[in-house]
This record gives sequence, C-alpha cells and structure tokens, in this order.
Amino acid sequence: MALWGGRFEKDMDEIVKKFNASIGFDQRLYNEDIDGSIAHVTMLAAQGIVTADERDQIIQGLETIRERIRKGEVQFTPDDEDIHMAVESRLIQEIGEVGKKLHTARSRNDQCQVDGRLYLKKQIQEILSELAGFEEVILKKAAQYRDQITVGFTHIQHAQPITLGFVFMAYFQMFRRDMDRLLDCLERMDLCPLGACALAGTTLPIDRQKTAALLGFSAPTENAMDSVSDRDYALEFLSDAAIGMMHLSRWAEEFVWWNSTEFSYIAIDDSYCTGSSIMPQKKNPDMAELIRGKCGRVYGDLMQLLTVMKGTPLAYNKDFQEDKEGLFDAVDTWKDAVTIFSKMLEKTEFRMDQIGKQLGKGFLNATDIAEHLAMEGIPFREAHNIVGRMVKVCERKDCQLEDLTDEDLRGIDPRVDRAALGDISLAACVDARTSFGGTAPAEVDRQIEAGRRWLADLEETVRTGQAK
Ligand code: ARG
Repeated sequence: MALWGGRFEKDMDEIVKKFNASIGFDQRLYNEDIDGSIAHVTMLAAQGIVTADERDQIIQGLETIRERIRKGEVQFTPDDEDIHMAVESRLIQEIGEVGKKLHTARSRNDQCQVDGRLYLKKQIQEILSELAGFEEVILKKAAQYRDQITVGFTHIQHAQPITLGFVFMAYFQMFRRDMDRLLDCLERMDLCPLGACALAGTTLPIDRQKTAALLGFSAPTENAMDSVSDRDYALEFLSDAAIGMMHLSRWAEEFVWWNSTEFSYIAIDDSYCTGSSIMPQKKNPDMAELIRGKCGRVYGDLMQLLTVMKGTPLAYNKDFQEDKEGLFDAVDTWKDAVTIFSKMLEKTEFRMDQIGKQLGKGFLNATDIAEHLAMEGIPFREAHNIVGRMVKVCERKDCQLEDLTDEDLRGIDPRVDRAALGDISLAACVDARTSFGGTAPAEVDRQIEAGRRWLADLEETVRTGQAK
C-alpha cells in the first residue's frame, strides 16, 4: 500500500499505478528532491519541530539514498509513484520510524515545485554558459572576418554588400537577447515554494524564510495557493527556449543554404556532417538540419504546457504532473543544440573565393550610387529612379553598373556621368556605411567591442550567481 494509503481499502489497479506514476521521468530530480528535504528538516529542527538527533538521522539517511541512486543501485518501479515517494519510502526503510517525521509541514504539491525550480535554476546556468561560449566563438569569427565582403540579401535577392563580420554580429545580438531573457526568467523564478504545503500553508511553526535561504532562493513565494499551482517559471523558460531554438533554426537554415553546391559559401567540417547510405559522394549538413527540425519539438513542449495549464482551477491538479517531460526535453534539446552549433561554427570554413564569385551579380552597389547622387543634390526619389534606369540599361547590355559609359549615363540623365557616381567599388561602399549599427568594418569593430564588454559583464554575473 502507498504511503498515503490509510483511507484506502484496495490497492491501485495496475494500469492506474502505471498511468499515475511520474517516477519514470521525475527520477531525474532526485538530487534536488534530497536537497529540498535536507533544507526542510534543517528548518524543522531549528524550529523545534524535530530534534537535532532526528534531523541528523534523516540527513544521513537521505545522503545514503542519494549515493545509492547516484551509483545506479536503486531500481525504481511504478510502485514508487514519484521521486518524492521513492525517496521518502526508502528513507523510512533505511532509518525506520524517525523517517516518518520528514513529511511534517510539507506536501508533494510544494515539494515538486521546489524540485522543479532548483533543477531549472541549475539548467539555466548551464545553458547560459553554453550560450556564452557560443557568443565567444561568434565574436572571434566576427573579428576575423570584420572586413570580408559578402552578399547581403533581402527576399533571398542580392541587396547590398556587407561584411561577414557584420553577419556574425547580427547573430550575436539574437543570442544576446536569448541570454538576457534567461537571466530575466531566472530572477523572477528565484522564489521558494517550500512550506506552501498542500495549498493553504500550515498550523506548524515553520520558517519559510529559512528554507528559502538554505536552498539559495532570494525569498519564499508570497501566497501558498499560487505557489502550488503556478507553472509560469516553466512556461517562461519554455518560451525562452522556443525563441532560442527559433534563432538557432534560422541560422541553421542559412548554413544549409551556404553549404549547398549552388552557394558553396562554406565547408562544414567532416566531423559535423554525415554521409548517404546509397550516394557515395554525399556529405550532408545533418546537424544544421536537425537543429532546424528540433526547433519544432521545443515549440511543441511550450504548446503542450500552455494547453495543460489552461482551464485548471486553483489550486493543485494532477494535470500539473505533465509539466516535466516537455521541460526536460526542451532543456536537453536547447543545451545540445547550442553546444553543437558552437562547435560546428568554430570548425566551418568560410570560402571567400566562392563568395567573391557572387559579388559581381545583382547590382549590390545600386543603393550606394543613389545615395551618392542624393548627396550631390538630386532628390533621393529621383536618384532612385535614375539608378533604376541604369540597371535596366545594364540588363540590356549584360554588364555591371561600373561598366556604363559616360554616353550611357548622360542618355539616362544629363546630370550624370561616370565621375558623378563616386567610388562604387564594393569595398568603398562597405567602408562608407559607418552609420551607427552599419556594416563598415570600423562600425563592426565597435559592435564587437561592445559585445565583448557585455559578455564579460554577464559572465561575471553568471559566475557570481553560481557562487552564491
Ligand atoms: N508527482 C506529482 C507531480 O509531479 C507530485 C505532486 C503530487 N501531489 C498530489 N497531490 N498527488 O505533480
């Protein structure tokens, strides 16, 4: 019979036992569960609810169980129901009657929440540290390619010349926001639900401030009923994960394109590709494709929990047990995807010779000419129209804008000749885009420097956050 079986005459049906059990997945929380119990019993002793000797026996028993689970010596079964029952029942087996005092002034409703938050706080730190490593790789690449010219696209059409360093710094901003979001989520979830008990608090003289402090939370949650029925911290994390995976997926899509025979902008390292079972020549960008694909499952994890939560009345409902698998899946998927992308990027060769072959196509410097004419006093709308007509002539003659003769140009507009176009080499075009946030190498240098400073500050925050 289960530990809660006092009012029951029959045991659970086997299929009920199986359907009800979360031990299959929440066993992952054993460390957090034991940490929570140790803090709880420490507080109970400090409040005179259990004796110091009882506290010590319980803590020792819990550490023995932790060690056994760690070594893989504990075989969990559906009879264990969940990690909370699994630990508590083994504690009672291990130390006898005194073990039955541990569950004083708490409930699994607050226990599972303290476990979930402790787990997620740690995982967020790990994901932050992976993202920080990724950002470092991006900064390194950005500095390396600060003045290397590539094609800037809109609508997957050649648009304007940009530097590769500028592209890297665009992605840097996305992952920077992902990290900021995680820090924000971390701050809001830093409240301890332990001691909320089933839903209404307890008649026993507990000290929730103490357990919160012992577990490294900044404070206890304010309202017991909200504490046991709130899953916002998981939802916020899942939203962050969905956005973070979307960012990785967008870059993964670019990697797949860049890696195609048509583009050939990059060569991904062999160790980050796979082959075909039938086509001997194939080397496929599977990691990029899988990251793109796995973005879908993380969206699914978010939608699943949002859907579980909608329509659940206060306070705890068993529906909430469904909060864990998706959360674990999103944590694992996001963490691995960042690690893999970072390593893949580090080892990818950017083929400037191949990129160079594309630079003469698509009139990348057209806007620059229009801007130059505008500076010469021709209203921009008119300049735009003049350059549009230049492009038409180029298409007819099958040439580049820089190949147009004075005669061609005067035929389009009497005010324009070759000298009026200014320096329209792509290097000059890129160098001139010095507006704040623009693609000029000097401006990319500024962005890199600002990025470096931000990352150094953040690493300090994460490190000191971890230390406390
Ligand atoms: N395994 C449960 C969960 O994860 C723990 C809480 C159970 N509470 C209850 N009243 N049945 O949600």
